[in-house]
Amino acid sequence: MSNGHWKKELESEELLKIIFDYAGRITIENNLNRLLLLMADMGRDMAVADRCILWIYDEQLDELWAKEAHGMGEVRVPAESGLAGYVYQTSEPLVIEDAYQDERFHADGDNTTGYRTKSVMVVPLKNKQNQTLGVYQVINKLTKEGIFTPQDVRNLSLAASYTAQALEAVLMNTEMEEAQKEIIFKMGEIGEVRSKETGAHVKRVAEYAKLLAIKSGFSEEEADLIKVASPMHDIGKVAIPDAILNKPGKLSKEEFLAVQEHANIGYHLLENSKRSILKAAAIIAKEHHERWDGKGYPEGLSGEKIHIYGRIVAVADVFDALATDRPYKKAWTLENILTHFKYEKGKQFDPALIDVFLENLNGFLQIKKRYED
Ligand code: C2E
Ligand code: SIN
Ligand code: SIN
Ligand code: SIN
Ligand code: FE
Ligand code: FE
Repeated sequence: MSNGHWKKELESEELLKIIFDYAGRITIENNLNRLLLLMADMGRDMAVADRCILWIYDEQLDELWAKEAHGMGEVRVPAESGLAGYVYQTSEPLVIEDAYQDERFHADGDNTTGYRTKSVMVVPLKNKQNQTLGVYQVINKLTKEGIFTPQDVRNLSLAASYTAQALEAVLMNTEMEEAQKEIIFKMGEIGEVRSKETGAHVKRVAEYAKLLAIKSGFSEEEADLIKVASPMHDIGKVAIPDAILNKPGKLSKEEFLAVQEHANIGYHLLENSKRSILKAAAIIAKEHHERWDGKGYPEGLSGEKIHIYGRIVAVADVFDALATDRPYKKAWTLENILTHFKYEKGKQFDPALIDVFLENLNGFLQIKKRYED
């Protein structure tokens, strides 16, 4: 900071240009990470600072979190900690000439990165209802004077209030997406709980299915779609009587026919949705008991006429069903499961998927261990 390469304060025209430039991009950005980066860059440029960190309040954990400037990680601190926490609590802007003279400052970040924080400006980020969503923390003024001015505080506060709306909308949207995934997962659990299986079953099936998809060459995105949709494969079991589902012994022919209905029932529960996750879930619910040789149900489809999502979940579901206890059977040994899968390759199961399964067995066993009942 002392090499003499100071920057000048912005002329009002330059400031306006920065604001217009960023505002345009901020209002159309709907990805949370990119939005946070844009907002932080705007704060840094507006204040002629070296760094800007945008801290967001997490209500559930009573913490402030921020994206790391470099890398994908995030930093979290208690909502009372440090300068950011102080401003979050008081909702008043704060300007400091030298952070190291201020007892509220935590030097942990500097100590791990070797960075030297000196001047700091922190302003609250408030929405229209005057709730504080987080704080802008701007670090190291790059002008010769090296301190943030009252004009900086006014500028950044104004920018904060304009961008809060965009941020709130994206936070809300992210929250909704997370909630949707959770609801879908819960629905899957309901289907399984009815049949005395635990949530761990749907979690494992989801992870097995994703691993099969990735190792079969699907993109991360499509593998994730399969992962979030597969927990609902047995949702149709909600309509099957307890006496059948939880029968300790072997089912009669009629009882087994009744259970088989769960595939079509699940499909009809989900088929009308326009959401890609639920569409994928409908396919999986319907086709996860089809067999490669055409002897499965409900349609008796064979080979590649069975949707690949259905073929993938068939392998994932049966692996988990055999590897764990059921009301009607004990878990099989790994040896017996492998013998069975090799035998059923090209009969019950897509042969290519069995190859993928056997080649990546360790990955599957790790998932089994990680999500033990
Ligand atoms: P599930 O328990 O989730 O089992 C899913 C699939 O794993 C079965 O589909 C089957 O392909 C495979 N599987 C599970 N246990 C065994 C086994 O001991 N041997 C072999 N070879 N495969 C096994 P499937 O057969 O279409 O059954 C669908 C659902 O019907 C089962 O879901 C379960 O809820 C019920 N079910 C099937 N057989 C019985 C039974 O004998 N008694 C009872 N109580 N329920 C049964
Ligand atoms: C923290 O590390 O607690 C936040 C940074 C600061 O001290 O303002
Ligand atoms: C922090 O992690 O608390 C601040 C990081 C930084 O100073 O860049
Ligand atoms: C794929 O990459 O389409 C999956 C391979 C398969 O059909 O088993
Ligand atoms: Fe099923
Ligand atoms: Fe299942």
